[in-house]
Amino acid sequence: MPDSPYERLEAAWLPARADGVLGSAPMQELVTHTAGYVSAVCAVLGVDAHQVAGVGVDVGTGAGVPGLLLALAMPQMRWRLVDASERRCDFARAGVQAAGVQDRVSVHHGRAEDLGHQGEWREAHDLAVARLLGTPAETGELLMPLVRPAGLVVVSARKEATAAWSEAPLDAVGAEFVGVDHLNEGSFVTLRRSGDLVAALPRRNRARRRSPIF
Ligand SMILES: C[S@@+](CC[C@H](N)C(=O)[O-])C[C@H]1O[C@@H](n2cnc3c(N)ncnc32)[C@H](O)[C@@H]1O
Repeated sequence: MPDSPYERLEAAWLPARADGVLGSAPMQELVTHTAGYVSAVCAVLGVDAHQVAGVGVDVGTGAGVPGLLLALAMPQMRWRLVDASERRCDFARAGVQAAGVQDRVSVHHGRAEDLGHQGEWREAHDLAVARLLGTPAETGELLMPLVRPAGLVVVSARKEATAAWSEAPLDAVGAEFVGVDHLNEGSFVTLRRSGDLVAALPRRNRARRRSPIF
């Protein structure tokens, strides 16, 4: 389809690609991979992608992957795309404009461990996602505090790393394991916010590195 949002995004992302932020995966591969998140969410909620509503957050979005592609796949959802790098946020902002989703997608320069303690962010999202952010402990500690009780987290993982998720003591980050989906060469881990959220989480970088939550 000429001049589709994906084509405009592809053009807007050229500087990000030149910067090495998006790697070499062609747009179609990114879209295909993103379908794994969509499929995992829809399977749990029992609805199709066009019916999923609410607020999502993509932590460590880089140039906007997967959050911006999820916004195109789930047209009723609002998204916050977060990255610690201002330069990467600029790439994501260019992508948001090119895709024409600025009415429901915003980009925020910040760190998840800071935002997770702020009233407008803590437990304020129905869904949190991440791609290539870190270990299960790191990802769980950063994402879970952003999600409302019973909300979902979906992260992509290497197939051989999915056991680490299913065996992790996720109650330490106020989560329970829902399942793993394998789709289009990717593996997607789904968690649900449950139980108590420890007030001190997420901790700062140094504390997380010195003493991983599990
Ligand atoms: C390997 S990149 C992945 C980018 C993107 N998700 C993708 O798949 O192309 C990881 C990103 O996470 C961001 N990041 C790392 N730790 C973060 C934190 N604590 N809060 C927010 N962003 C973080 C980095 O700046 C970087 O852009």
